[in-house]
Amino acid sequence: MKIDVLTLFPEMFTAVTESSILGKAGEKGLLDIRLTNIRDYSTDKHHKADDYPFGGGVGMVMLADPVFGAMEAVGARGKKAIYMSPRGKILDQPMIQELAGEEELVILCGHYEGVDQRILDYWNMEEVSIGDYVLTGGELPAMVLIDSVARMIPEVLKSSHAALDESIYSGLLEYPQYTKPRQYRDMHVPEVLVSGDHKKIHLWKFEQSLLLTKERRPDLFARFLKEEHSLSKEEKKILEKILELDA
Ligand code: ADE
Repeated sequence: MKIDVLTLFPEMFTAVTESSILGKAGEKGLLDIRLTNIRDYSTDKHHKADDYPFGGGVGMVMLADPVFGAMEAVGARGKKAIYMSPRGKILDQPMIQELAGEEELVILCGHYEGVDQRILDYWNMEEVSIGDYVLTGGELPAMVLIDSVARMIPEVLKSSHAALDESIYSGLLEYPQYTKPRQYRDMHVPEVLVSGDHKKIHLWKFEQSLLLTKERRPDLFARFLKEEHSLSKEEKKILEKILELDA
């Protein structure tokens, strides 16, 4: 997947794009992230990228011309273009899944108080927010989007199941995990996990996921109950037992 990022602060990205899983995905050629500095496309002699808003108001607005120049330089025409903005649709797993199906993405990071609306209109940009809070710019949100989309690309994660098995993906939060040693200080790993009984282990994990989801995310739990699931007899029993706790 190729992702063009248009930003006034390209240096913010390298720690994320060159490390860990995203770094490896880049080396393997699964992910090609290209950073473009919008200021390089300013035709102004001071490399100006923003100006005061017409009609007044606080802060500065990103100029159309440098962004248009950068969009044209990366060949954005016809590609899926995203503008990171607290006004946008909130990023969630279904949206991430859909974006992971794109071959190319262009992401514009705003700064100051926003960008000239004509940029969004002309380039048919989809506005995407990462949550109901306001950051100082679109760079961190763009990194969140890139990370979450990249891990859904086949082969980016070590195990192809890893992304599917987890939390929100199957509609439930993840069960507690343990690793060595079996006893740490006076805390023990739940006996079932070292029992070697794979069926029992699976059912324990399922039960823990259900309990955690019910307690922390009743919205996800209610959705899980509404959906169709092909549960085994034992899984059904566990679910019924948990539902009986309320009765
Ligand atoms: N820019 C500033 N805040 C943002 C947010 N919450 N999501 C996306 N872009 C933003």
